[in-house]
Amino acid sequence: VTIYIPRDSGALALGADRVARAIGEEAQARGRQVRIVRNGSRGLYWLEPMVEVETEKGRLAYGPVKPSDVPSLFDGDFLSGGAHPLFLGRPEEIPFLKRQTRLTFARCGITDPVSLSDYEAHEGLKGLRNALSMTPQEIIGEVTESGLRGRGGAGFPTGIKWKTVQDQPPGQKYIVCNADEGDSGTFSDRMIMEGDPFVLIEGMVIAGIAVGATRGYIYLRSEYPVTHRILEEAIAAARQAGVLGGSVLGSQYAFDIEVRVGAGAYVCGEETALLDSLQGKRGQVRAKPPLPAIEGLFGRPTVVNNVISLATVPVILDRGGAFYRDFGMGRSRGTIPIQLAGNVKRGGLFEAAFGLTLGELVEDIGGGTASGRPVRAVQVGGPLGAYFPPALFDTPFDYEAFAEKDGLIGHAGIVVFDDTVDMLKQARFAMEFCAVESCGKCTPCRVGSTRGVEVLDRLKNNIEPERQIEIVTDLCNTMKFGSLCALGGFTPYPVLSALRHFPEDFRPHPVREAAE
Ligand code: NAI
Ligand code: SF4
Repeated sequence: VTIYIPRDSGALALGADRVARAIGEEAQARGRQVRIVRNGSRGLYWLEPMVEVETEKGRLAYGPVKPSDVPSLFDGDFLSGGAHPLFLGRPEEIPFLKRQTRLTFARCGITDPVSLSDYEAHEGLKGLRNALSMTPQEIIGEVTESGLRGRGGAGFPTGIKWKTVQDQPPGQKYIVCNADEGDSGTFSDRMIMEGDPFVLIEGMVIAGIAVGATRGYIYLRSEYPVTHRILEEAIAAARQAGVLGGSVLGSQYAFDIEVRVGAGAYVCGEETALLDSLQGKRGQVRAKPPLPAIEGLFGRPTVVNNVISLATVPVILDRGGAFYRDFGMGRSRGTIPIQLAGNVKRGGLFEAAFGLTLGELVEDIGGGTASGRPVRAVQVGGPLGAYFPPALFDTPFDYEAFAEKDGLIGHAGIVVFDDTVDMLKQARFAMEFCAVESCGKCTPCRVGSTRGVEVLDRLKNNIEPERQIEIVTDLCNTMKFGSLCALGGFTPYPVLSALRHFPEDFRPHPVREAAE
């Protein structure tokens, strides 16, 4: 009997290794033959560790499983799909999963992440095989047609970025995968790298063929040690099978990938700082132009793409740009892996076509808060994203719709807060975060963030509140328009949105009490 137990960091944090050990030992004690596959997570984190069993009735899930549940699972004959209080049925029938459109995450949680044959048995490598029968121009044409935009947060059209690199004179070019997933409440990059690393490898190889690059680097954040191990195993398997190396699947193209681990700076997710760090220098932002697409790694033309952008390329090359483009709304085409986190009942990964409203995502899909109290605010797009009040819950998940409301989708992380949240504290946190993580290159960010913390502290202490609000608003404008990169430039989003939508938290306390 085959049993699937995730080796995903999230599931491991919830005890998946202990559960795997307990199941192995219990099976041995009872003389039952089991094959344990350490898969990725399906992304239903409130049910992790979720154990799946391959039975005659198909794959059936149980969760969340604790080591102490294991004897009773065997007593209930879970190896044949027997009844148990933790029985969840067929995973794909669980509403949270059933309502999704999984294109990028199609295999995540289903296959053995480091088995290339399992990958191929589930449609893997079809995109790459198609790409090998096309010209580089045709590949880029397909990606452009799909409408894919940078999933790291900026939403720049991937096809145009690739074309810029392709248009540079021949010579050494690079594909750099930005896996420095630093936003709070985001984990989609990690999940796909741990659950389906071959899809990222395949996407990078396709990118290399398209732009004429033979080397790829994955810049991975140091906080992801499990991801690192899985990536290395997958890269070794891909090399052995000839997917990577001197002749990609026997073609005239060469491509290889190396993983480089960062050292824990948020700003190294910014592409120019990332490239410096990759070259062994201190990660500091530099002005653009020149764009990395023209002068990138070691001064050579470089595609810098987020994990999800690259991992979405195989499905586009497999099913076609037009197929992918069919999903979504407005200029936001295809699907987006949304991450629900914070104080939410059903936290996890929800891949869906663009267009769901924030309210549907938080209240309906997420089930509201875990604390059971009313939702008061959600922050979308990481620590630099705006706070949205329930009054704006009709905003559809779409790059332009969010920008219209002075917010951003970013890397599509949603962090939920209930009515006990203090928004002045959250605004202060944004400034403090910026002060800690600032690379120090430009004044509005380096000095502004520290002054911002001081101003908000004066506000907290009721020192000339109206004056402090004026100063912080003015400071935010300076940071927004005067900073060199998104760290200083976007810190005003959480601060100003908190001020605008939750003004009562910024009023002097006696007034607040009187209002109550
Ligand atoms: P950007 O708008 O400067 O650039 C977007 C991308 O397009 C870059 O790769 C740039 O080189 C490229 N580009 C622009 N014009 C081009 C052209 N003509 N030809 C080819 N390529 C071109 O935005 P940036 O600073 O790269 O990213 C900011 C975003 O990062 C924010 O929106 C934020 O949401 C997100 N972010 C994501 C984090 C994460 O953990 N994923 C963390 C922090 C911020
Ligand atoms: Fe560095 Fe901040 Fe300026 Fe970005 S905005 S370049 S992080 S000082």
